[in-house]
Amino acid sequence: MNTKKTKKNILPNNQRVIWIIGASSGIGEGLAKYYASIGAKLILSARSKDRLYQVKTSCKGNPMSVHVLPLDLEDKASLSEKAREALRIFGRIDTLIHSAGITQRALAIETNLSVAQKIMDVNYWGPVAITQAILPSMQQLGQGHLVVISSLMGKIGTRFRSSYAASKHALHGYFESLRPEIYDDNIHISIVCPGFVNTTLGEKALKGNGEKYQKKDEVHARAMSVPQFVKRLIPHLNKQKEEIFIAGSEIKAIWASKFLPGKLFRKKIREAKVI
Ligand SMILES: NC(=O)c1ccc[n+]([C@@H]2O[C@H](COP(=O)([O-])OP(=O)(O)OC[C@H]3O[C@@H](n4cnc5c(N)ncnc54)[C@H](OP(=O)(O)O)[C@@H]3O)[C@@H](O)[C@H]2O)c1
Repeated sequence: MNTKKTKKNILPNNQRVIWIIGASSGIGEGLAKYYASIGAKLILSARSKDRLYQVKTSCKGNPMSVHVLPLDLEDKASLSEKAREALRIFGRIDTLIHSAGITQRALAIETNLSVAQKIMDVNYWGPVAITQAILPSMQQLGQGHLVVISSLMGKIGTRFRSSYAASKHALHGYFESLRPEIYDDNIHISIVCPGFVNTTLGEKALKGNGEKYQKKDEVHARAMSVPQFVKRLIPHLNKQKEEIFIAGSEIKAIWASKFLPGKLFRKKIREAKVI
């Protein structure tokens, strides 16, 4: 008999301790509001302490169940201590959600290496460092759920997003390799690939010289809202589904990558509207 299957049905969401990194805005904020509304215990992290407290205040439910733990994913040396602090708050982490991220609006050739490195630090190395620091406690608990908010750009690449796509592809490589290593520990990984969601991610995107892009692209302005996104995401997370795609018509790019001949797919990518 496969005992792992029986173990998969673990704590209901309202009894879980959920650490959301990137909780100060956008998708992370939306997830924080949802999980607070059903009574989960939450730890909210990002750089902006003020924004995190605003999110905490806007969360329904018991305020004692929502803790703020500011951190900066670029400060790698601080992250294992931040993970220890997170574990001390409620004594455990059942679900770790990596939603923090920064993106790019620049041609590859015009992107300073320091900008490419920053995107990699926040989107890839930060989540890796925190995951490594939290995993032993999940192994001790005998259960856990890692949720990684990647992107369709974790599966394909388009103009203006070379470093962003690279960081998201790296997440897939890392977490897909990790998945079989921790399966027997009853720790599951959901990699989420959103299409366009109407957040301020694009406005905060970095240009090649590191300045903020400060424009809302059409593709984001007419994209699904965060509550719509969260509503579609939650049922998949409840099943701890391994790979989750939530997108508008841009999902066709994923189908095209799977089913079109490579040459035709790459022609479509050359023609794609991405800003
Ligand atoms: N919106 C989309 O269309 C879309 C599409 C595909 C994938 N995604 C992914 O979804 C995730 C959430 O993005 P979003 O759209 O919700 O954008 P968002 O509103 O800009 O959220 C990004 C979050 O990351 C945090 N963050 C940025 N730099 C950080 C750092 N150095 N250390 C710690 N936290 C940091 C931000 O908080 P602080 O600034 O306070 O640190 C914020 O909480 C990202 O991983 C993004 O790549 C978004």
